Amino acid sequence: MKRKIIIDCDPGVDDALAILLALNHPEIEVEALCSVTGNGLIEHTTANALKILKLCGREDIPVYRGCNESLSQEVPETVDAFGDDGLGGYAHLVETTQQPEQEHAVDFLVRYAREHSGEFTLFIIGPCTNIAQALRKDPEFVHHVKEVLIMGGTKGFGNASPVAEYNFWADAQAAQEVLAAGFKKVTMIGLNVTHPIALEADIREMLRIFATDLSTFIYKITQVGVDEAWQSAGRLVAPMHDVLTVAYFIDPTLLEVIPAHIDVVTEGIAEGESVVDLYGKYHQGQCNAHYAATVDVARFNELFLTTVFPEFKDEIIQYIKENK
Ligand code: RIB
Ligand code: CA
Repeated sequence: MKRKIIIDCDPGVDDALAILLALNHPEIEVEALCSVTGNGLIEHTTANALKILKLCGREDIPVYRGCNESLSQEVPETVDAFGDDGLGGYAHLVETTQQPEQEHAVDFLVRYAREHSGEFTLFIIGPCTNIAQALRKDPEFVHHVKEVLIMGGTKGFGNASPVAEYNFWADAQAAQEVLAAGFKKVTMIGLNVTHPIALEADIREMLRIFATDLSTFIYKITQVGVDEAWQSAGRLVAPMHDVLTVAYFIDPTLLEVIPAHIDVVTEGIAEGESVVDLYGKYHQGQCNAHYAATVDVARFNELFLTTVFPEFKDEIIQYIKENK
């Protein structure tokens, strides 16, 4: 039986890649996409979610438009690393007539969770606002979700501040409420493991050579990430952060995860910082999450590429074996 998932996202190049991976895996059933402001304002992230479904011929999957404002009722500063349109300047390549559903994402989440209690995994790969609002709206929501996988947080370095990762920084209060809510199982897949899986230039070149509609699209939308990484850090890579949540769902052996008590700083100079207490050492052994500590990059690459491009499986495996 397929495993049901809901993806709460802010597409976003790396969100797009995460969705593509989920849609191309035979054992995953994407039940819905929910949008939130992050890589762009809500109208852009919602439109991009619809475009990704169109690209994959999956306009049967509903998209629910979510929150534009964080819990503090401010519109978070959006990310500009993926271009003005969130898809590296290539959002215009895909046109769709599919419209978002009338129901708000928060209402949908609450309703769906009641109707499918214990049946689905929730991915949070943008700011946590929609999920925090669902928790506030329905105290039972927390009990209906089988598992939560979050791309957010970090340990050791940030990308929105010296200590904070963007998704947690954009709505720190929401991230804290999600972590403190008491979900059955939460895994924080943060920058410390998503930074190393960035798409390397030679693998990106492989996508150009494959020359399918999908590989060409990925090649194009990741260009802006490479340009930004080159200018800021002298690296020829494109960010893939969110993809790791789906890859981990497919193959949990890709990550080493450690039980931890995780809090998020909600104000002050460290706002958005995830404070990771491994094994709950400072919380009498109480843990509220799992912390992803290490990642197997070569196996991630193989899983991502062979799932999205099964027609090139032999070439991909051979290349990774000889070069990674
Ligand atoms: O910090 C990485 C996160 O912020 C990812 O979810 C990415 O899409 C960006 O919005
Ligand atoms: Ca994202």
